[in-house]
Amino acid sequence: MGEKEISQAVIRRMPRYYRYLGELLDAGVERISSNDLSRRMNVTASQIRQDLNNFGGFGQQGYGYNVKYLYEEIGKILGLDQTHNIIVIGAGNLGQALANYVKFEKFGFVIIGLFDINPVLEQKLVRGIRIYMLDELEAFCKENRVDIAALTLPKKKADAVANRLVDNGVHAIWNFAHVDLELLNKDVVVENVHLSDSLMQLSYNIVKNRDD
Ligand code: NAI
Repeated sequence: MGEKEISQAVIRRMPRYYRYLGELLDAGVERISSNDLSRRMNVTASQIRQDLNNFGGFGQQGYGYNVKYLYEEIGKILGLDQTHNIIVIGAGNLGQALANYVKFEKFGFVIIGLFDINPVLEQKLVRGIRIYMLDELEAFCKENRVDIAALTLPKKKADAVANRLVDNGVHAIWNFAHVDLELLNKDVVVENVHLSDSLMQLSYNIVKNRDD
């Protein structure tokens, strides 16, 4: 691994494999054929084989996949075998909702602080996680390892805050603000999340089904 560039389309399918395998594991399933996995996931068996072959396979002819092994290996591919500390910038509705969601921790994503500029929120706790004022960001980043920053603040503020985060050593941004970030340092990974894009896609399919 590492030598070959894996396409983002393959990477985007990996969490879904991981989720299905996790469910199989919880249900006590020890091994599964690619045909069976394909039926459950509604993906062709050859797609599964092709996707996993990017990482060296993992299946055995006549045996299928060992569920626990494949789950763990995909977890490693996705970097879920390590903890990622997250801070949330913007402790409003969305920021607090993220902090309230406990299941991220199951995958090693730990929210260690929220930041805001509204003094009313200062020192408040969300599920035991403290809200800091933005002017405490520099000190916080010196004292804590911050792997990811989630941006849940107004879009007009997003660029400035994102660049400030990068200056403080944060090189991964989970961007919820509806803006394409303009980062001065290109050595940063950004994942944009737009729930409305997904809704619009749903809307398209509603309209399309109606017209068919
Ligand atoms: P909100 O108004 O409840 O919260 C925004 C928070 O950001 C407030 O507490 C505010 O004081 C704080 N803030 C403002 N400037 C700041 C700064 N410079 N530094 C730190 N904090 C700052 O808004 P809500 O509903 O939580 O939405 C937050 C953002 O997320 C908005 O940009 C919204 O458009 C976006 N959003 C994105 C979604 C998505 O799917 N990507 C879904 C919902 C909201």
